[in-house]
Amino acid sequence: MGYGQWVGSYEQTVEDAMDLGVLEKLAVPQWSSVRLAADLGCGTGRTGAWLRRRGVATVDGVDLTPEMLAVARARGAHGRLVEGDLTDSELHSGAYDLVISSLVDEHLSDLGPYYREAWRLAAPGGLCVLVGLHPHFIMTAGMPTHFTTAEGEDLAITTHVHLISDHVTAALAAGWQLVELREAVVGEEWIALKPKWEKYRSHPVSAAYVWRKPA
Ligand SMILES: C[S@@+](CC[C@H](N)C(=O)[O-])C[C@H]1O[C@@H](n2cnc3c(N)ncnc32)[C@H](O)[C@@H]1O
Repeated sequence: MGYGQWVGSYEQTVEDAMDLGVLEKLAVPQWSSVRLAADLGCGTGRTGAWLRRRGVATVDGVDLTPEMLAVARARGAHGRLVEGDLTDSELHSGAYDLVISSLVDEHLSDLGPYYREAWRLAAPGGLCVLVGLHPHFIMTAGMPTHFTTAEGEDLAITTHVHLISDHVTAALAAGWQLVELREAVVGEEWIALKPKWEKYRSHPVSAAYVWRKPA
């Protein structure tokens, strides 16, 4: 997929404003009341570490890329870490009061299996939080997820555009109820980080969805 080559520079490339900055603005969940979370596509453990800092007691993680998991393991933010496909994880059914994924959905060709697996993992009353690139931004900026290798070569990772209605359709079909939807736009913070993004000022750049499994 490409993350095995990206792992060395991944954390220097990803801007927290893309995902963590949006998670910070959510009205739900109350992070400190979450006992057990499943972090699907946990990567190097950025999301898991952020959750732990907000008081989440235990975070289990799943990821396809062994090199990313090795960094997460060394970081130590997670409880259980599983190498595998997040749409068919080995994690326990009905055990999690939060299922969360950050910057992952653009790598999935179909959202149905994601929302169905999240549903399987969630306890009754549990939440699913998905945050990632806004479909408008991927299309407007023509910007697939990309990185520069240690040899200086620019590589793009296969990126799928999922419209907001694709998320709503797939999640509702799996049984989820929408609790919150937040979109973030390119503003001063982004322009300070990336002056070339002046041309995207006020365009939606990321989106976060919060779903609840009825109790
Ligand atoms: C952009 S990284 C995000 C990592 C982490 N959530 C973060 O915010 O830093 C995307 C991660 O998703 C993982 N991934 C992509 N498709 C996956 C799948 N089908 N199952 C499990 N992991 C997957 C990749 O290996 C990679 O580590």
